[in-house]
Amino acid sequence: MAIKVGIVGAGGMASYHYDGFTKAGARVAAMADMDTRRAEAFARVRPVERICTDLTGMLKALPDLDAVSVVTPNKFHKPLVLEALEAGKHVFCEKPPALNAGEMEQMLRASKKANRTLMFDFNNRARPESVAMMRYIREGVVGKINSAQASWVRRAGIPGFGGWFTTRALSGGGPVIDLPHMLDLALYFMDYPQPAWCLGGAFYDFMDNRAFKGPWGIPDSDTGITDVESSCHAMVTFTTGQTLMVRCSWAEFVERETVSVSFQGTKAGGKVERLFGIDGVDGTSIDSCRLFTEEYGVQVNRDISTEKDETMGRIGQAANFIETLNGAAAALNTAEEALILMKIVDAMYESAASGGPVRIP
Ligand SMILES: NC(=O)c1ccc[n+]([C@@H]2O[C@H](COP(=O)([O-])OP(=O)(O)OC[C@H]3O[C@@H](n4cnc5c(N)ncnc54)[C@H](O)[C@@H]3O)[C@@H](O)[C@H]2O)c1
Repeated sequence: MAIKVGIVGAGGMASYHYDGFTKAGARVAAMADMDTRRAEAFARVRPVERICTDLTGMLKALPDLDAVSVVTPNKFHKPLVLEALEAGKHVFCEKPPALNAGEMEQMLRASKKANRTLMFDFNNRARPESVAMMRYIREGVVGKINSAQASWVRRAGIPGFGGWFTTRALSGGGPVIDLPHMLDLALYFMDYPQPAWCLGGAFYDFMDNRAFKGPWGIPDSDTGITDVESSCHAMVTFTTGQTLMVRCSWAEFVERETVSVSFQGTKAGGKVERLFGIDGVDGTSIDSCRLFTEEYGVQVNRDISTEKDETMGRIGQAANFIETLNGAAAALNTAEEALILMKIVDAMYESAASGGPVRIP
């Protein structure tokens, strides 16, 4: 019997969830959105049996759902995830996992209590470049990763002014919380070590300048709030002695939007990167996966060719959720890892606010 899923939130990301779930053999039975016109528009392209206005109605209408995916603005992740888990459903939730580590802790506890799978859309782990790199890391080619650099930097990529993305109460923050993908990918490559300290700074430039708006995102709201950072640069140390530099921005004077993790291991270094032609998703982006090592007394660079995935692993990660439930694949990410990630996010904000180093619990 196919796994039966309901999606909550018919916005920009929902189609990737639908396509990934169905690719892995699941059936998307329902779509819930408080804006029924959006749910209906979605269902005209990707059919579902039921359209609902909220998760509560969806759970009532289809009590035999196996799983729920949460694709709403960040503030609603925690309450919706908790409601779905308490109803006995497995949950796939968009990133960021929650507004902060405290919320994430509650979600982790609830998944354990309900004995249900809770996974997140850290889609960059499912990119062909990351999958290839992880194989080298797991096979021991890289050795121990001493240091890494995680960057998602944009030159002009503010996702709309005054919408939920730029309203801290709804989003939890700006690019630190919106672009946690490279932080997550670096931690994944480093074997998710226990963080120890964080020291960072945040900047608030350009958040009133329309020249720095991205070519995607949600419509501007003239009455809305814009109270989040435009960039943050931080360093994180780990109890293992490893170190990580994190850069994330929606708007700062970089050459162009760059998404990358580089690392230096005891046997090889490496880099997984996407260079965008223009800010945003575009067909001219260049993806690469490279290793830097030494062989037979000479320095060697290896270019690892992988298939192009314009979705940056979004369909693959949603498919992996279903395959995890089916027992056909190992989970690409866990709720325990999400808690570590959210503790680092909290520490980046705390350090930026205090100007000093923050110990990560
Ligand atoms: N993984 C990625 O690459 C990626 C990219 C962009 C956004 N996201 C994440 O996806 C999530 C959604 O972003 P989006 O761009 O699709 O947003 P969006 O604003 O386009 O869509 C959100 C939808 O959720 C609906 N909604 C809000 N609260 C609801 C509730 N309580 N119940 C039912 N429906 C509700 C809204 O009406 C809207 O249709 C966010 O958490 C965001 O961070 C992930």
